[in-house]
Amino acid sequence: MSIYERIGGAVTIDRVVESFYRAMDELPQARTIRAMHADNLVGVKVVLKRYLSEWTGGPALYSPVKGPPRMRQRHLGFAIDNAARDAWMACMDQALAEHITDAEARESLRDNMKKLADWMRNTE
Ligand code: HEM
Repeated sequence: MSIYERIGGAVTIDRVVESFYRAMDELPQARTIRAMHADNLVGVKVVLKRYLSEWTGGPALYSPVKGPPRMRQRHLGFAIDNAARDAWMACMDQALAEHITDAEARESLRDNMKKLADWMRNTE
């Protein structure tokens, strides 16, 4: 079973992404990364939902629309250091805790996101 199915598919991804950006609006340590984003988050929410669907083994909704993910390259325009990575993970941790009750699935998803977030760093 894919991680997508284990966490509850599109409905859960939808909720996680909504909570993730709400946390980014609210957590003091996320102020710097919030400022990297557009004021209006509607567009990026749609894109992150599409990406996470594909990345967790669900329907491939990202590549057909956006092309190859190349996530690191897409983030090169933003200065991502350890603090930015930690802030991103703090928002994601909050969102995952709110919506994913299966602890094993949550931890495995989190570990993989952490690896991706580490790899996204491009600034000391
Ligand atoms: C490590 C810290 C990270 C920071 C500071 C960060 C920041 C950003 C910013 C500023 C944008 C542009 C938003 C906009 O267009 O207004 C973006 C886009 C995006 N980010 Fe991140 N990001 C991080 C990590 C990640 C990770 C780990 C993932 C995947 C799990 C991810 C997935 C995405 C996606 C899918 C987009 C949209 C890309 C597109 O336009 O196709 N990001 N991110």
